[in-house]
Amino acid sequence: MQTWDELKEVCLACRKCRLAETRTNVVFGDGNPASPILFIGEGPGEQEDLSGIPFVGRAGKLLDSMLGTIGLDRGKVYIANIVKCRPPQNRDPLPDEQEACIPYLRAQTALIRPKIIVCLGRIAAMKIISPDFHISQDHGKWFDRKGVRMMALYHPAALLRDPRRKTETLPDLLAIEEELQKLETPAEA
Ligand code: URA
Ligand code: SF4
Repeated sequence: MQTWDELKEVCLACRKCRLAETRTNVVFGDGNPASPILFIGEGPGEQEDLSGIPFVGRAGKLLDSMLGTIGLDRGKVYIANIVKCRPPQNRDPLPDEQEACIPYLRAQTALIRPKIIVCLGRIAAMKIISPDFHISQDHGKWFDRKGVRMMALYHPAALLRDPRRKTETLPDLLAIEEELQKLETPAEA
């Protein structure tokens, strides 16, 4: 298996799909690769493309505050995206772009070995949890895949567009906090 640094080097030079033509920076990920929890977004936006860091724009500020609500920050989680280069005009990443890029996320996941994966929004949830994921119905529900607990939250950009959904997101965040606490204090056998 590749090391983290080898994987990052290959990814930063990637030209496997058309998004390479319009990107400024490949956005590999941010945070602590030794974390038990991995957050997965959709793809870089403008600020992320310019900085090379995921979730640094308006939605990213909201994500930081959501993490803060449950005592987390970027030193305690890892954050990556389904596609690592910005889709032009922030359109949804196309299926072939997602397919081209997902091996990087899978390799990151294999190295991080998270116990909890949180998908941010519908695109990530459909790719990672189930193709027929319905975000308005299924956010906050736990799914188990090979011993990994998975959940999706509304995407922070969706929460900015419709702040009423923030009240629905709080219990989801608290469920994540509870799950993390279970990891720290395993139930007695
Ligand atoms: N939206 C995403 O899904 N990912 C980012 O990195 C930024 C905004
Ligand atoms: Fe490579 Fe992914 Fe960027 Fe496409 S989006 S060029 S697959 S890193």
